[in-house]
Amino acid sequence: MATNRTFTMIKPDGVENGHIGGILNMITEGGFRIVSMKLTQLTVADAQKFYAVHSARPFFGELVEFMTRGPIVAAILEKDNAVEDFRTLIGATNPADAAEGTIRKKYATSIGENAVHGSDSDENAAIESAFHFAGREQF
Ligand code: CMP
Repeated sequence: MATNRTFTMIKPDGVENGHIGGILNMITEGGFRIVSMKLTQLTVADAQKFYAVHSARPFFGELVEFMTRGPIVAAILEKDNAVEDFRTLIGATNPADAAEGTIRKKYATSIGENAVHGSDSDENAAIESAFHFAGREQF
């Protein structure tokens, strides 16, 4: 059953490039309610665990290095059909393929440094949310 919640991160490139406000504006204009949010930084162990599904990929080391190099904004978002609608709002992984009006089209610079994360399933949204936020931090 759809939970209507998804998990997002504004990645280190989005934070470094000054796009926290712009990205949050697109998220709220897109109809998402912020359930939880914080500025935080992943350790190497955090990033290896969060991206364990990609551990055999050739870009894994680069991905962990990138995701730990500076702060991120972690957030839980709520909306009807949240996971799918948020994937539509962020656009394709590679900004060269991202549709007009998407967050990655506007703010991502490469397939690796693509500004924002969005959960790919309700199950992963719940796992990723619990990775970052205790129940009492979810409003
Ligand atoms: P995302 O889809 O949020 O989660 C997995 C991440 O791995 C992806 O964003 C990119 O940041 C990164 N990634 C995917 N493919 C590549 C690639 N070919 N080269 C470098 N990084 C990649």
